[in-house]
Order: sequence, then structure tokens, then C-alpha cells
Amino acid sequence: MTARPQSEVDRVPVADLGGLPMPLIGYGTHPMRGPQATEAVLAALEEGYRLVDTATRYRNEEAIGAALAQTGVPREDLFVTTKMPPDRVGLERRTLEESLTALGVDHVDLWLIHWPPGGYPGVTSWGEFARAREEGLVRAIGVSNYSIELIDALHEATGQYPAVNQRQWGPGEYAPAFAEALAARGVVLSAHSPLRSTDLNDPVLVSIARAHDRSVQEVVVAWNLHHGVAVTVKSAHRDRMVRNLSAAGLTLSEDEVAAIDQLGAA
Ligand SMILES: NC(=O)c1ccc[n+]([C@@H]2O[C@H](COP(=O)([O-])OP(=O)(O)OC[C@H]3O[C@@H](n4cnc5c(N)ncnc54)[C@H](OP(=O)(O)O)[C@@H]3O)[C@@H](O)[C@H]2O)c1
Repeated sequence: MTARPQSEVDRVPVADLGGLPMPLIGYGTHPMRGPQATEAVLAALEEGYRLVDTATRYRNEEAIGAALAQTGVPREDLFVTTKMPPDRVGLERRTLEESLTALGVDHVDLWLIHWPPGGYPGVTSWGEFARAREEGLVRAIGVSNYSIELIDALHEATGQYPAVNQRQWGPGEYAPAFAEALAARGVVLSAHSPLRSTDLNDPVLVSIARAHDRSVQEVVVAWNLHHGVAVTVKSAHRDRMVRNLSAAGLTLSEDEVAAIDQLGAA
């Protein structure tokens, strides 16, 4: 199969992480491993995904590295995210080096603290993350599954805000105050499990999908994009990967977005 035309790839909007463009639709790789992960990532890159989301904890970085080595997509066109689990606090540099070796890259684009270490903001880890960024081993650093309070505590201790906070996010848990608080701090919200966390039979979503002759999954992705929220979405199936990515071309009306927003208030 030939790669998607560049115009379709360019249709995916980006967030600006201090000069580093991050595609707002990323390819999620959990829980795939081994050859399945390699083949799925190769297919996703062929179909136009440019962001690949992995983590030390997924134990698939080597399989993804095999795909990055085989794809014809140049490294500079790719955005690779990985995450350090909190049980590696104190072993940050070793963990990053293991990720880089497994992925076969000399830097990752985004490195996240996978969740708050022991429920704390992870200040000592952040220092190591910032050093890795200064040394060019990672382009941007962020967190995952953090509350606003923890982000503020991290900021108070370090003077820095994370570039990204990745957390579970979908229409059913839409919380505008949370999204606005992140935006006010310059933190990009990245939604993981946007589909898995959604009632895909919800009549509001179903009727909007029918009106556009699209799948409910595409509507959920498009709704996130409308709000400027990055989505990390996983499918092991090529046809679904294509549909999820094609949501970049789906424009919802203000009324439709407002109706979906209301699902979070239910
Ligand atoms: N930071 C964190 O703590 C964290 C936590 C969880 C996940 N993540 C990241 O976020 C990514 C996405 O989250 P997720 O995998 O939990 O959930 P998701 O992407 O919301 O949903 C994945 C599920 O939806 C199915 N699916 C995808 N597209 C579909 C479509 N168009 N039609 C029908 N079914 C479809 C997939 O099945 P098939 O594969 O069979 O198509 C899979 O069962 C993960 O892969 C991971 O990279 C991060």
C-alpha cells in the first residue's frame, strides 16, 4: 500500500509546544506488543498518522522501534511520545536511555511522567526531565493523569509548567473548568482513551454521526479537535485507523458541539 498523500497528513491540526508542532491526532499503541505492534504502527504511519504514543510500561517500545526503522516516513516528520512510570523515580536517565535504545531514536519528542509518583507532583523527576530536554534527548516534557492542584504544586516547586497533560477525556467527562485551567497555564490537554471512555450508543452522538454519515468514533475525535484537545486513539484495524484519522476533515456545528458538551454534565 502506498502512503497517504501529504495533503491528508497536513489536514491534522497541530498544537504548538513552544515551537514544536504536535499533531492533534496521535496513534495509541497500548496494549499491543511484538509483531502486532510493529505491523499496526507501520500501517498507521502509512495511513497518515505522524504521532506515535507509547510508554515504558507498555513494553512495546522495541516493537515500535522496528516500525520506525522500517517506515519510509523520515524521523523529522514523526512525533514520538513515551512515558516514564513512577516506579522509575530515581532512575529517570536510565529509563530514558532504555526507551531511546528500544525505539532506535536519538531523542523523543515528548516524555511524560506517566502518573503522579506516590500521588505527589514528582519534583525530583521533573529536574531530570528538564535536564534531558536541555541535552536534546527529549524535545518537550509533560505529565499524565495530573490534577490542576498537582500541576500547580509542580509549578510552585520548579517554576515550570508541563507542556502537556495526558489524561482520560471524552464527552462523558467533559469538564470545561479543567480544560480552561490547563489552557490558562499553557498546558495542552491530550485525551487518552477517548473512545473507550465514551458511551458510543449515546443517542446524541449517534444522531450527530448519522447526520454526517460518519461513525460515532469519528464524531468523538472531531469533537476533541474542535476544542483544541489532542487525541490519542488506538485501533489495531487499518479501516478503523483510517476512519479515526479522517475525523480531521469532519467539522461539527456549534450546536452539535454544545450538545456533546452537555453529555459531561449528565
Ligand atoms: N497516559 C495514560 O495513562 C494512558 C492510559 C490509557 C491509554 N493511553 C494511550 O491512549 C491510547 C488510546 O487509549 P485506549 O487504547 O485506552 O482507548 P481508545 O483509543 O479510546 O479506544 C480503543 C478501543 O476502541 C476500538 N476502536 C478504535 N477505533 C475504532 C473505530 N473506529 N470503530 C470501532 N472501534 C474502534 C479499539 O478496538 P480495535 O483495536 O480492535 O479496533 C479499542 O478496543 C492508548 O493506546 C495509549 O497509547 C494512555
